Amino acid sequence: MAEDIKNSGEFDADDALRAFLKSGTLEWAKNQLQKYIKLMAYYRCAMMEIETKFNVLNEEFSLRHDRNPISSIKKRLKSPVSIKNKLDKKGIPFNLDSLEENVNDVAGVRVICSFLDDVYMLADALLQQDDITLIQKKDYIAQPKQSGYRSLHLIVTVPIFLASEKRLMRVEIQLRTIAMDFWASLDHQLHYKKEFEFTDDMAQELKLCAKMSAELDERMDGLRKCVQRDISWENGGEKRGSPE
Ligand code: GTP
Ligand code: MG
Repeated sequence: MAEDIKNSGEFDADDALRAFLKSGTLEWAKNQLQKYIKLMAYYRCAMMEIETKFNVLNEEFSLRHDRNPISSIKKRLKSPVSIKNKLDKKGIPFNLDSLEENVNDVAGVRVICSFLDDVYMLADALLQQDDITLIQKKDYIAQPKQSGYRSLHLIVTVPIFLASEKRLMRVEIQLRTIAMDFWASLDHQLHYKKEFEFTDDMAQELKLCAKMSAELDERMDGLRKCVQRDISWENGGEKRGSPE
C-alpha cells in the first residue's frame, strides 16, 4: 500500500485497458475491462465493509471508555499499473483470475490508532468477527522491518452481499499508531526520488528515528495506563490517594 494513500477508490480505465491490450485483442481487452471495472467495484465494497466494522468498534469503545481508539482511517484501491507491475514481477500474466488469486493488496485499508495497545485490541476485535477470515498476519511491530518500518499487517477476506450472490473479497489492513504513521509517511517521502541512493548512514539515521518513534509509543502508552487506572505517575504507578 503506497504511503500516498488516497481516500478514494477511483482508477484510470485507460491504464487498465492498456494493460489488457498487452495480452490480447481489442475485443477481448474491452470485455476484460468491463469485468475489471466490476471487480474493482467489489473491492471498493469490501473496503467499505472493513471501514464500517472499524467505525463500529470505535463507536462502541468510545461509549465504554470515553475515548476513541481510532484516530483516522484511509482507504486506497491499487492502480492498474501497480497491479500489472506486481504481477509482472511475479511472472504471472495480467488477467482477472490471476489478479484476485495473487495480489492481496488490491484493496487497502489503513487504520491509524491512538495508542499502541489499541492496534492489537482492534485487530483482535476484528478477527473475532465470524465473517472475517485471516489469510496472513505480519507483525512488523514485534519485529520491525530492516528499514525500521513498524505496523501490523493483516490480509483478511470479508464477504460482500450483492443482489444475487455473496462474494469473499481480500483486503489488506495496516494498523499502526500515529507515531508509526508519522515515520512511515516521512520515510515514503524521503524515498520518493527513486534514483537517489540512500547511504548506510542515512538508513541508520532513519532507523534511529523509527526507534525513537517506538519509544514515544511506549511512553505515551505508559501515560495512558496511568490515566485509565487512575494511578499516579509520580509515585511510579501507586493508586491515587492510596494510603502511604
Ligand atoms: P508489497 O509488494 O510492497 O505489497 O510487499 P509485501 O507483499 O511483501 O508486503 P509487506 O508486508 O512488505 O508490506 C507492504 C506495504 O507495507 C507497503 O506497500 C507499504 O505500505 C508498507 N511498507 C513496508 N515496508 C515499508 C517501509 O520500509 N517504509 C514504508 N514507508 N512503508 C513500508
Ligand atoms: Mg503492497
